[in-house]
Parts: sequence; C-alpha cells; structure tokens
Amino acid sequence: MTELNKISLKILSDGKGILAADESTGTMTKRLESVKVPSNEENRLLFRKTLFSSESMKNCIGGVILYDETIKQSSESKTIPEIINASGAVVGIKVDTGAKTLAGSPEEKITEGLDGLRERLKKYYELGARFTKWRGVYTISENYPSKLSIHSNAHALARYAKLVQECEMVPIVEPEVLMDGKHSAKTCFEKTSEVIKKCFEELMLHKIDLSGLILKPNMILDGTNTTKKISNEEVADLTLKCLKESVPQEVPGITFLSGGQSEIEATENLNLINKKNNTNFIMTYSYGRALQQSALKYWSKDIKNIAGTQKIFDHRANMCSLASQGKWSKELEIQG
Ligand code: 13P
Repeated sequence: MTELNKISLKILSDGKGILAADESTGTMTKRLESVKVPSNEENRLLFRKTLFSSESMKNCIGGVILYDETIKQSSESKTIPEIINASGAVVGIKVDTGAKTLAGSPEEKITEGLDGLRERLKKYYELGARFTKWRGVYTISENYPSKLSIHSNAHALARYAKLVQECEMVPIVEPEVLMDGKHSAKTCFEKTSEVIKKCFEELMLHKIDLSGLILKPNMILDGTNTTKKISNEEVADLTLKCLKESVPQEVPGITFLSGGQSEIEATENLNLINKKNNTNFIMTYSYGRALQQSALKYWSKDIKNIAGTQKIFDHRANMCSLASQGKWSKELEIQG
C-alpha cells in the first residue's frame, strides 16, 4: 500500500467523509450575508472553528478542505490545522484559483491555478495539508459542455493531480457538472460519463497513481429547472451505473459534492447509493452546503452560541455518516 493510498483510506474509511469548508472569501461572504452576518476575517474563523471543534469531527469527518485564508489562521494559540488534526481528521486545501471564461468558448469556464502551483503546494504541505482539491466546472445545455471544455478542464485537472502527488499529497479531482438547466437526468448521465472518462484518460496519460486519488463528482440528477424529476432510487441507479462504467477500479473512493441539493436530499441519495453499491469504491460525502446550511442558519441568530451550533452540525454529520454506510432513515432524521 502506498503512502497516498493510506492517506486516502484514512479520509474515507469507517463511515467518514469530508467537510468542504473551502469557500473562497467571495463565496463565504455571500453565504454569511445571506444570513445577515458581516463577512470579516474574525467571523469567518469563528464559524469554521466552531465546526472544526465539534464532537462529530472524531467519528464522521475524515478530512476538511480549507481555503488559503483558513489554513493560515490560529485560535487560542493553536493553528487551524492543529485543531483539525487533534480530532483525527486530515487537513486538505483548495488549490485552484477559480473558474474563468474559457477562451474559444466564452460561455464556458476553465479552472485556473497551475502557474506557480508546485511552490504553493510545498508551502501548504509545510502548513499541514495532506490532500488538495481542484474543481472543474461544466454547464449543460444543447451544445454544452463542448469538447473544448471537456478536454481543457481534464487536462488541467491531470496536470494539477500530478503536481500534487509529486508533493506527496492526495489530489481530489472534482469535475462538477452543474445542476442548473432544463436537462433530463439522462442527459446528465451522458455528459457526466463523458466528462469523467476524459478526466481519467488525461490522468492516466500523466501517469497518476490512481490508488492515491479521490474522485469528487456530482450525482446524476435532473436539471433544477425541470418539473418532472426521477425518483431517488433512479438517481442512485444512474449514479452507480455512470461511475461503474467511467472510473478505473484502482481508485479507492468517491466523495460526492452536494451541488445545491438540500441537506435531506443529499443524505437520502447518498444512503440509497450505498445501499445499492455494487462497486468496490467507497462512496461517501464531501459536502459543503449540505453539511453546513442548518448550522450556519442557527449560528447566525447568535454567533456566540457555540454549543447550540455544534449540536446542529453534529446531527447533520451523523446523518451523512450513516448515509455513507447505507444505514440512514427518515425516522433517524426526525429523532435527531
Ligand atoms: P457543495 O457540497 O456545497 O456543492 O460544495 C462542495 C464543494 O467543494 C464544491 O466545490
């Protein structure tokens, strides 16, 4: 077993998943302003530290993805990576610098951040990071995602992943096909399969150790603007079929993004995926909004109420952990 494979399994095994707390300052500002809390360095730290020091970190969270600002912050003479490590979770860091207009197809995006990445990775390793994230983003409509977007994002993801493994960290490869649009789940299935297959083609060309990589895909869903929706059972079936056909066996685990699903939806779908899981992949969560939404709303009413906020977060993390083992039910949700 390679060191990278060990790190991947430490993050994903035993009913654990990932807390994606790597919102850029711009995105975090939108989240805080939506609950009427001023977005300043102190408040961003307070909310995140509240989550990182909660009880469920020990049993439910195997890894936390941080943003550049947070990995350098400290609280009560402990650095944020030290606080996370104390709970047994692995520290991760978002290393892309965001999705920009794709030259040649201006309605689509290409993720940037490769320039100077090797040097930045070394610094993040020194700060305690052992895994990283890079998100490629794809829109669906009649002509999109274009071949150009599928190809360029896959190429960037592979170059990123190789540099990360060179620095002895585990890359999370996140090709996110967005939910927005009027497309059917069938179209989402076809486009997501094409996107993921292209990513692995490029990853293999770049000689990536697939046993030391985590894939972070979207689930297969109908577009948000369709009224006719497939059932949760069908979501699970199509998602499993897509991943089984597109992901090489050596990959240890798949961590889903929540992508705008509600907390319950994201939990229920993950639970069904695990109940039906007929692959060798660990299937768990790397949720941002679906782990933080209720906690953020509660916290915003009184930002000094640490214990109350942690209770809400602990419940959500416990529900996701059960779902990652196919043991979640609506009854357990209500009892919490
Ligand atoms: P969501 O679960 O809110 O989609 O965030 C996950 C993430 O890391 C997106 O890049």
